[in-house]
Amino acid sequence: MKLCGGLVLSVFLLGLLGTVAHASSPSVLTEWTGIKPRHMRLFRSALQRQTSDEEQSYLWNPLPNQKWGKCMRSSSTSSLPEKSEGYLQVFLDGGLNQQRMGICDAVAVAKILNATLVIPHLEVNPVWQDSSSFEDIFDVEHFINVLKDDISIVRELPDEFSWSTREYYAAAIRPTRIKTAPVHASANWYQDNVLPVLRSHGIAAIAPFSHRLTFDNLPMEMQKLRCKVNFQALTFVPHIRALGEALVNRLRYNSGDSETAETNYIRRVTDSSNGQPGKFVVLHLRFDKDMAAHSACDFGGGKVEKLALAKYRQMIWQGRVLNSQFTDEELRSQGRCPLTPEEIGLLLAAMGFDKNTHLYLASHKVYGGEARISALRKLFPLMEDKKSLSSFEELSEIRGKASLLAAVDYYVSMQSDIFVSASPGNMHNALVGHRTYENMKTIRPNMPLLGQLFLNKTIDWSDFREAVIEGHKDRQGQMRLRKPKKSIYTYPATDCMCGA
Ligand SMILES: *[C@@H]1O[C@H](CO)[C@@H](O)[C@H](O)[C@H]1NC(C)=O
Ligand SMILES: *[C@@H]1O[C@H](CO)[C@@H](O)[C@H](O)[C@H]1NC(C)=O
Repeated sequence: MKLCGGLVLSVFLLGLLGTVAHASSPSVLTEWTGIKPRHMRLFRSALQRQTSDEEQSYLWNPLPNQKWGKCMRSSSTSSLPEKSEGYLQVFLDGGLNQQRMGICDAVAVAKILNATLVIPHLEVNPVWQDSSSFEDIFDVEHFINVLKDDISIVRELPDEFSWSTREYYAAAIRPTRIKTAPVHASANWYQDNVLPVLRSHGIAAIAPFSHRLTFDNLPMEMQKLRCKVNFQALTFVPHIRALGEALVNRLRYNSGDSETAETNYIRRVTDSSNGQPGKFVVLHLRFDKDMAAHSACDFGGGKVEKLALAKYRQMIWQGRVLNSQFTDEELRSQGRCPLTPEEIGLLLAAMGFDKNTHLYLASHKVYGGEARISALRKLFPLMEDKKSLSSFEELSEIRGKASLLAAVDYYVSMQSDIFVSASPGNMHNALVGHRTYENMKTIRPNMPLLGQLFLNKTIDWSDFREAVIEGHKDRQGQMRLRKPKKSIYTYPATDCMCGA
């Protein structure tokens, strides 16, 4: 007894440190740990849930045609300027999806200025620590080719400008660097402030560049060009697409290449395949320590967890976290607490996803590791992720590279029948926008509703279910038009989609 207690405690503490996200022996962990489900009543009922065929077909049916079509720039004729004003460089920070938006904006700014774009430089993000370059992630040839009638793009600067590097700008103040681009700057701002630099030096380097081009009052042509970059020009390198495709096939047909995927996966997937492609849900879960600490919510890990998160908050933000002035209850009822894996599991179960649902977890690192995920896994035993679905060799090219791992998740997410994102952020926005563009089903959790439901400790399963179903009827991918100031990458209609 003493031994068990010690083991539970130490694994729990390790989990808190976030270091056992994928320990080598998950079976031992699931046997012994599992942070106790916080919503025990609901959790027990969810384990016993039954769903009807009717519910299943409602859930899995693709979105109806919403009469919105893609309408892109039709560049049958070249619109390249007669002469280039010079070379435009951008240095992009953020993770994969923030950089993606930056690339789209860079193309538009190059167009506005009649400049030649240099393939953007991706900075190494302090959180994600990935030094992959544009070429390592995106198919450069395809990128240049798709945009060849819109702007000129070069992979590298010609020799006369080879001095213009990241290191050169890091070392001192340089006249060719534009450091002051305001957030959501207008086209005029670029013409007034960057064009003169291009004209006198033949080159301009903009950094920082994230979110530096407005979404409003731009010519329609420019908006469409941004969408063309996002939805057509940016594709991942062949090996990422191939791996993504292999994972999708394994999710759909239950039969991997047994040579390579004789891992956990074969053991866990027991459905008898009848040759019909199976359907699957992608769950994007960003429940990491940063997010947990920043939210200042209580995640049921007791005093130990509370202290650990408060300490982390103090260390990183010196207590400057707005949420920490509210109680957990206040934050929850406003929908400001990230959903835990258990809560996501309850949401999906209440919506009608049964135990045979193939769930793919698109996630970088889950705070609390396997212990935290176990409740979700109990509700969805056929849960997979890129690690469980692939062999050690298959992952060798991307292991430890956050951007490439995220790219694989992005690819799989775009192929899924249903996508659910449990956390707002760049990946959420990018996929919501991209799936809107393709008219694909995307469930957006109703955070304030769920927050309030989870606060009710006496609510029973049928009331919970009813409220969840009702509260998510209109959150499954129905078209939402962009409002002023909002991103065209999240809301592609009506700038890049026409119809209705
Ligand atoms: C870019 O070139 C086009 C024609 O090639 C011209 O109409 C436009 O004024 C130019 N823009 C700038 C900012 O020079
Ligand atoms: C909790 O849910 C029950 C229904 O299951 C409801 O009758 C009750 O009013 C709810 N309590 C609160 C505080 O909302």
